[in-house]
Amino acid sequence: SSPPAPLHYLHFASLDAQQYAHLFERIRIIKGRFKRYERYQPLQDRTLAMIFEKASTRTRMSFEAGMYQMGGSVVHMTSTDSQLGRSEPIADTARVISRMVDLVMIRTFGQDRLEEFARHSRVPVINGLTNEFHPCQILADIYTYHEHRGSLAGKTVAWIGDGNNMACTWLQAADLLGFRVHISTPKGYSVDAALPSLGLANPDCYRLFDDPYEACDGADLVTTDVWTSMGYEAENQARAAAFASWCVDEAMMARARPDALFMHCLPAHRGEEVSAAVIDGPQSVVWDEAENRMHVQKALMEFLLLGRVQD
Ligand code: CP
Ligand code: NVA
Repeated sequence: SSPPAPLHYLHFASLDAQQYAHLFERIRIIKGRFKRYERYQPLQDRTLAMIFEKASTRTRMSFEAGMYQMGGSVVHMTSTDSQLGRSEPIADTARVISRMVDLVMIRTFGQDRLEEFARHSRVPVINGLTNEFHPCQILADIYTYHEHRGSLAGKTVAWIGDGNNMACTWLQAADLLGFRVHISTPKGYSVDAALPSLGLANPDCYRLFDDPYEACDGADLVTTDVWTSMGYEAENQARAAAFASWCVDEAMMARARPDALFMHCLPAHRGEEVSAAVIDGPQSVVWDEAENRMHVQKALMEFLLLGRVQD
């Protein structure tokens, strides 16, 4: 008989609200141990493979440092230095790699490519960013909000800019965890309504605005991202023109609640999607957000490999 299918983290809706509640508690404990220099190595003899088909600073650092801290090892591969770049099928790559390691993280283009890998993998697969979703980042963002202001439930997140992987993952999270997203995108750059679990039919979690300033009215969190995501570089010029009014500046932040936070998954372009005054200003928590990638992914890897740890 075939072994049970592994639990994958392919998008935000891969886990349910109860599993996230458990994860948040584990993140707090695991981060606390790191801050106190306490050794916590439940993943000794476990190996994570990281496959990057796009560039990365935070995702690579946070997974790699996090895995070593938990006692495990990491193997890093890109499409240019592997047979993926010479057209080896993703299914064959998955069959081979998943016989050698315990866990796989992939950053790639289409979500279908990630899902194809997962279908042929014997071990859990984590989405390290696709064109459609970036769940590890949204997990870190929600945890960061939680640390600064408490639960996001019932609150409002303003998403300013591209209807990209970050925007779509915010929508999945809002539907699952019970908060609202105000989205303002330039015409032609809205989210892809055909993606799963976006909760677009739920008026309690999704409102669309033509005017980015209006989208910020009363928001508890204002967030944005690059105008041109990886893989869309050919559209750079057209996007720069279309997005010119979608820059989160102090006037936009002034429309949000006085205690609103600003987040950006990074890398950022000051003077494009965000002004220097906002990203380097007092409401910005972008460095906590980046650090928390490591803590949330440590808890996620623990959960996928060991289940509900209680200690
Ligand atoms: N935010 C994020 O995923 O950053 P990298 O592209 O540097 O991994
Ligand atoms: N939306 C961006 C996020 C980068 C971390 C991209 O996909 O390039």
